[in-house]
Amino acid sequence: MEMPATDVPESLVTALRNARNIAVLTGSGISAESGVPTFRDAQTGLWARYDPMELATPEAFERDPRLVWEWYAWRRELVEKAAPNPGHEALAELESRVPDFELLTQNVDGLHRRAGSRNVIELHGNIMRSKCSVEDVLVEPREDDTGVPPSCPGCGAFLRPDVVWFGEILPAGALEKAFDAARDCDVFFSIGTSGLVQPAASLAFEAMRQGAVVVEVNPDDTPLTRHAEYALRGSAGEVLPALVRVAYG
Ligand code: APR
Repeated sequence: MEMPATDVPESLVTALRNARNIAVLTGSGISAESGVPTFRDAQTGLWARYDPMELATPEAFERDPRLVWEWYAWRRELVEKAAPNPGHEALAELESRVPDFELLTQNVDGLHRRAGSRNVIELHGNIMRSKCSVEDVLVEPREDDTGVPPSCPGCGAFLRPDVVWFGEILPAGALEKAFDAARDCDVFFSIGTSGLVQPAASLAFEAMRQGAVVVEVNPDDTPLTRHAEYALRGSAGEVLPALVRVAYG
């Protein structure tokens, strides 16, 4: 059922009020209103000529570690300047309204935690953390290291952002927890994601299979739209606060 953002159907309000367990999957769309560009929108400025799919890969880092590190440094600056928006804040409010709540995010910007969300599973890592590209352990560069990328203080290998690149496996345990959340929830939200990248894109269907009410929040169509019980057409920053206000007052 596709509807404009503003009318929250009574049946959805009832489902939210009765829900014991809500699971939410977010993608870069929820951070768009915080000024963090989504993946599939055209890159801005200096990076317009690069395709994120070409930069967020182990091969790109192997080929040109400096370029990839600089791209992430540029994105880190964007994230540091960004603030959570009403969409992030509404999800933190929603978490306080239900007994069990899991927030599964594909985003690496840390904005959910900054908005006050607590039970957050970062499926694709976090851009603000660095790790050794060889030892795969979290480590920060030495203060005086001006290298681009900097080097691991332990073994001297390049550091890299602690994010999941295309073709890499998700953090240990994250995927299992995410599928458990999809299997246990009464309501599953898919917010601000194009639903094109696996395995995250399967979570909504896993929830549907066990009978959860699936709600999509996205201004555009995605492969999930026609399957979702509710497809709320609009931006997360508008739809989510309205939903929480109507459901919980
Ligand atoms: N509110 C809600 N949704 C929005 C908004 C908004 N204000 N603005 C854009 N969107 C939607 C777009 O319509 C699109 O469907 O957010 C989605 C963003 O899709 P992508 O750019 O593909 O981002 P995402 O789905 O998070 O990508 C998944 O793929 O690129 C890899 O690892 C990367 O985590 C990323 C994953």
